Parts: sequence; C-alpha cells; structure tokens
Amino acid sequence: MATNITWHPSLSREERNTYRKQPGFTIWFTGLSASGKSTIATALEQHLLHLGFAAYRLDGDNVRFGLNKDLGFSEKDRNENIRRIAEVAKLFADSSTIAITSFISPFAADRATARALHAEVKGNDAPLEFIEVFVDLPLEVAEARDPKGLYKLARAGKIPEFTGISSPYEAPENPEIYIRSDQKSVEDAVAEITQYLEKRGLLT
Ligand code: PPS
Repeated sequence: MATNITWHPSLSREERNTYRKQPGFTIWFTGLSASGKSTIATALEQHLLHLGFAAYRLDGDNVRFGLNKDLGFSEKDRNENIRRIAEVAKLFADSSTIAITSFISPFAADRATARALHAEVKGNDAPLEFIEVFVDLPLEVAEARDPKGLYKLARAGKIPEFTGISSPYEAPENPEIYIRSDQKSVEDAVAEITQYLEKRGLLT
C-alpha cells in the first residue's frame, strides 16, 4: 500500500439513499466452469433490470479482457483476480447498484475475504449485504457439457491449472443460496434468487 495517502470521507450511504432508494448489495455466484453460473447470473441481471432495479454483472471471462488482463490462473493470480472483483463489486454496491459477479472463485478464503470486505465500512454506514450463490454441477456433467472445449484441452494437458482437473475447487459450505443447475431451469433459479431477495427486504 502506498504511503502519504489519506482517506477522503465520502457521502454517507444514508445521504445517498435520500436520492436513490434502492439498497446496493452484491450477489456473488461461484461454481465450476460450465456450471451455468454466468447464464443464471445474466438472466438474473435481465430480470432485475426489467423490474426497474439498477443491476450490473461482472463476468470472469470479460473482466480478464480489461481490468484483469494482466492475470492468469495461478493460485496467486486468482487471489488477486477475486480481490479486485470484490473491491469493484463493493463500489457498485456502495453506489446503490446490485452488483452481480460470476467468477469461478474457487478458493474459500478468497470468497471469505470478499464477504469480509463488504462487512467493513467507514463511518456509520451499515455493512453491505453479500449473498453467495453456489451453482453446483458434478464435475463429470460440467465436463460432458464442455461448451468451450476447455475441459477436453485440460485433460489433454494443454491448459495448466484448470479448475476441477488440475486446480482445486473448494465448494462453499454455507452459501445463502444453493442451486443444482442440472436439476433446475434457469427461470426457476432466477425465481428462487428473486424470492430470497424479496424475503430479505432487499428489493425495495
Ligand atoms: S477464477 O478462478 O475465479 O479466477 O476464474 P475466472 O476469472 O472466473 O475465469 C474463469 C474463465 O476463464 C476460462 N479459463 C479457465 N477457467 C479455469 N481454469 C483455467 N485454467 C482457465 N483458463 C481459462 C474459462 O472460460 C472460465 O469461464 P467459465 O465461464 O467459468 O467457464
């Protein structure tokens, strides 16, 4: 961290919410490659936008074309990938936007850090909600789907450190929402997440 820097106090969330009523928070999708997390996350983003909420999705592949184009798939780079995404998601959430992230985010410690970051606030603001959605699919089903042909390449040794094959995926133990994507349609998954958000009073 740089020295000689000073935190500049910004508007409190309370003050910002006088103008923008919607609470901002983060919906954090995690799951294997080809588990369906990006498909469900995109459908959820669309649904929330149709309902009139400001929502914005950050996607694993896409962010690696820009903000995180200097990062690969070593454990260290994945740690940094998730750290940056957590910071960006928090900024979106702080601006009263629903941040939706769809990253493999394979390491439990990185997801815990992302959650803790949302709980950490300056001044009197309430912590930002962080909702973890585990999109679960057995590895063999994800591998059979293989929409990008990456599992095949990983099995052939052509992609090093591929999640589920040569790099670990640590499944969440206590996600707020659990979805078995081969047993639920995308529409049902979106409806389940929306109901959860409504029950929690987050869609106001
Ligand atoms: S991570 O682990 O959270 O940092 O990964 P993420 O930023 O979500 O990027 C995952 C997408 O990158 C492609 N890809 C790989 N995935 C896993 N392991 C390796 N080695 C790898 N190399 C490239 C792949 O298309 C992932 O996209 P999804 O949508 O998950 O299938």
